[in-house]
Amino acid sequence: MRSYSLIAPAKINLYLEIIGDRPDGYHELSMVLQSIDLGDRVEIRANGIDEFRIHCQHPEVPCDRTNLAYRAAELLKTAYPKAFEQYGGADIFIDKQIPVAAGLAGGSSNAAAVLVGLEMLWDLGLTQPELQDLASQLGSDIPFCITGGTALATGRGNQLEPLPDLEGLYVILAKYRSLGVSTAWAYQTYRQQFGSTYVRESTDLAARQKRVHSGPIVKAIAHRDEMKMVQCLHNDLEKVVLPEYPQVLKLRQTFQQCDVLGTLMSGSGPTVFALTDSREKAEQIRAQVQNTLGNPDLDFWIAKFINTGIQLAPGIH
Ligand code: C5P
Repeated sequence: MRSYSLIAPAKINLYLEIIGDRPDGYHELSMVLQSIDLGDRVEIRANGIDEFRIHCQHPEVPCDRTNLAYRAAELLKTAYPKAFEQYGGADIFIDKQIPVAAGLAGGSSNAAAVLVGLEMLWDLGLTQPELQDLASQLGSDIPFCITGGTALATGRGNQLEPLPDLEGLYVILAKYRSLGVSTAWAYQTYRQQFGSTYVRESTDLAARQKRVHSGPIVKAIAHRDEMKMVQCLHNDLEKVVLPEYPQVLKLRQTFQQCDVLGTLMSGSGPTVFALTDSREKAEQIRAQVQNTLGNPDLDFWIAKFINTGIQLAPGIH
């Protein structure tokens, strides 16, 4: 049976601005997304039967139809029923390295890997835009997870503009093991608290664009000015998540007190990250935060910025 083994990287948000509301109930966003070399391994193996099966050892990852990776397979089956008839289903093995419900797009990246892997397994010959259109139907940041790197994401977060690679940056991620934040909750709470400041769907385009503040970070990245870029780190969702979770606020403040280039909560959290320019410094910062907070529930990861999305894992396919 044919199989493909893929690496599905996590992402961090270097910038997340909520611009306004949308008729589809989502929020209009302006984000800068960055792939990092913390990734899950996702193997897609043809199983010769007419079903998809998810296999994952992680206790918080469901192996049923609610898993986004399963829904990705079903979506492709619905779009290409003949290919499903011809090739059959697949077993999907997820080796989880990315923390779950952490604001790092772990589930989205797994779904992106299923789309890429099944597309190859079924010899569909889809173009990247075709695959990204499908991805968009499944979740706002799945199109980014396919291509990865550094990108400006607008609309729901699914319209992408690639940005120049940011090289040589390291990220220290920290997350309380027992803490997860629902993305839907974070956006809903933001809407309740800050909805009055939104740009309405009816506002004309020029006026809407005036309310977007991602210009400086995009410019800094375009000029490959990493020092400027780190001064522009911003995440609107911090305004609702940090007051609700004091330990995440404390973590963010502790990073801030270290010798970091910048620090921010990623996505809807609760992962907080700090940026630095060498692995050695990253290790020092990790030790300092660990010593200061002394909490056994706190997990850390050190990763590097990368310029790729879903990739074949090294080895034989
Ligand atoms: O698109 P995705 O399913 O990943 O989004 C998860 C949740 O986050 C949505 O159900 C919605 O509540 C919220 N969201 C939003 N606006 C966006 C993206 C996500 O309100 N642009």
